[in-house]
Amino acid sequence: LKFACVSNDGIDEHMVWLIGLKIIFGRQLPNMPKEYIVRLLMDRNHKSVMVIRRNHVVGGITYRPYVSQKFGEIAFCAITGDEQVKGYGTRLMNHLKQHARDVDGLTHFLTYADNNAVGYFVKQGFTKEIHLEKERWQGYIKDYDGGILMECKIDLKLPYTDLST
Ligand code: ACO
Repeated sequence: LKFACVSNDGIDEHMVWLIGLKIIFGRQLPNMPKEYIVRLLMDRNHKSVMVIRRNHVVGGITYRPYVSQKFGEIAFCAITGDEQVKGYGTRLMNHLKQHARDVDGLTHFLTYADNNAVGYFVKQGFTKEIHLEKERWQGYIKDYDGGILMECKIDLKLPYTDLST
């Protein structure tokens, strides 16, 4: 099992993984238009942190780091159907937090959570109260009716992953 952070960089293996993640998002996020999923997955401003097992994608999170604002917007998050509720989603989020803090220099995440995923995000430390100053995110993330805006503060020091995972 491994965790990788990839973007549309033309590397063959990354392209195969991005397509694998596209298929998972397409099935698990039925309200998202497929063209929109592909557009953001392939957009060079977005990155995807993925769980890979035996060279197959188990799930992932696609996000856009706003480095100047020090926050990231999670666009899509899903684990493939037969692997849900086994802990992959939690480990994935921990890898995302570690990468976003240590590589992108981010302090917060924002996301529009689907109603039925609010419980998952709460368990990952997200709240419906937004503490981030509006000036830092207003105009950066687009308003979206289909979900509830949630925030997560990334701890400055906490080791979110250990070397063996
Ligand atoms: N509602 C409430 N609690 C949940 C949900 C949920 N939908 N999914 C998982 N949990 C809980 C689990 O029970 C678990 O609780 P525990 O720690 O007390 O045992 C905890 O959250 C973590 O569970 P994991 O096994 O780590 O989560 P999983 O691997 O299933 O990943 C995810 C969670 C990504 C929501 C997955 O279930 C999924 O792909 N669902 C369908 C797609 C979806 O809803 N994606 C999010 C849409 S919002 C967006 O993309 C911005």
